[in-house]
Amino acid sequence: MRSTRLALLAAGVGLTLVLSACGANEDTGGGGGGGEDTADQSSGGIPVGVILPETATSARWEGFDEPMLEAALKAEGLDPDIQNAQGDVQKFSTLADGMINDGVKVLIIAAINSEIGGTVAQKANDQGIPTIDYDRLNLGGSSEYYVSFDNVKVGELQGQGLADALEGKQGAQVIEIEGAPTDNNATLFYEGQQKVLKPLYDAGTLKLVRSQPIDNWDNQKGGTTFEQILTSNSGKVDGVVAANDGLAGAVITVLKKNGLNGKVPVTGQDATADGLKAILAGDQYMTVFKPIKGEAEATAKLAAALADGDTAAADKIATDTSEDPEGDRDVKSVLLDPFLITKDEVKRVIDEGYVKADEVCTGDLAAACTELGIS
Ligand code: BGC
Repeated sequence: MRSTRLALLAAGVGLTLVLSACGANEDTGGGGGGGEDTADQSSGGIPVGVILPETATSARWEGFDEPMLEAALKAEGLDPDIQNAQGDVQKFSTLADGMINDGVKVLIIAAINSEIGGTVAQKANDQGIPTIDYDRLNLGGSSEYYVSFDNVKVGELQGQGLADALEGKQGAQVIEIEGAPTDNNATLFYEGQQKVLKPLYDAGTLKLVRSQPIDNWDNQKGGTTFEQILTSNSGKVDGVVAANDGLAGAVITVLKKNGLNGKVPVTGQDATADGLKAILAGDQYMTVFKPIKGEAEATAKLAAALADGDTAAADKIATDTSEDPEGDRDVKSVLLDPFLITKDEVKRVIDEGYVKADEVCTGDLAAACTELGIS
């Protein structure tokens, strides 16, 4: 049955017919662990699908997004099937097909890149399933709604953090290790950073050595790329923009090898346990805390409204707009505030329950935690 259905789908035969012929409760394989939670057999609640992009680029996707989306969607009376494509676009597509076949009423996508995100959204929309772009906007896509943070502001906080850390160091040399060029967020982070840093480069207060985007946010590649830039600059660096904590960690490994950790401020993002530890150790200057619970809750409220077909209610939630320059359109959005975290604010992330004290206050860091009142 499964192969027949896939063949029919591949042949572009009307999905509604196929669905009613096969029933919606057969596990297509695409839905993975969610197979038993489908429309017919659900424990109650309207089925919605969530596809997350990968796990290796940031600890956030598994550590924060997955559990927080699950809780928020359930709290809205929805029955979520949450899967992760592990950075594989083919898998992303297969997961989406599985969820569409399973009869999800809303599809929430955080795509690996705009191309696959746009393709999947279009496919779902063609079946009458509304889509929400989650965290990453798919440029040229068709989702009517987008939930994220103010990503230009994220970049501004990174730029400001580095500028503060380098204050008084005239002509300090900066290397920028940026996110994936195929992730619109990385473009926005860069835009925000440059708002602060470009005038300083132009004035000669800071000196840009090189700015390098890293394909797929690949942390390892970020480290080797940083090492090459450092070597070709005769081992000189005074400050590093790293677009997230994963890239920051890779940069710090290289700085350690060169005896430079703790002397060279490094930025970050996501307030991961490793990022916070590096801050407490003095190896990373700052991170950006994006309270993902709020992102998950706004997404769940939007999904509930859309599952009810209540676009008026959805529009009341998504009162911001985001520009999609490729699609030449404005997308209705919820854009939340990010926060700058230096050593003194690490406590906040722990107090808000994102990271546990015993995940960061290990070994030598216990003393720093005591000093900062973290327990
Ligand atoms: C997210 C960041 C994350 C990065 C890598 C971006 O789209 O907004 O929070 O660190 O992707 O996963």
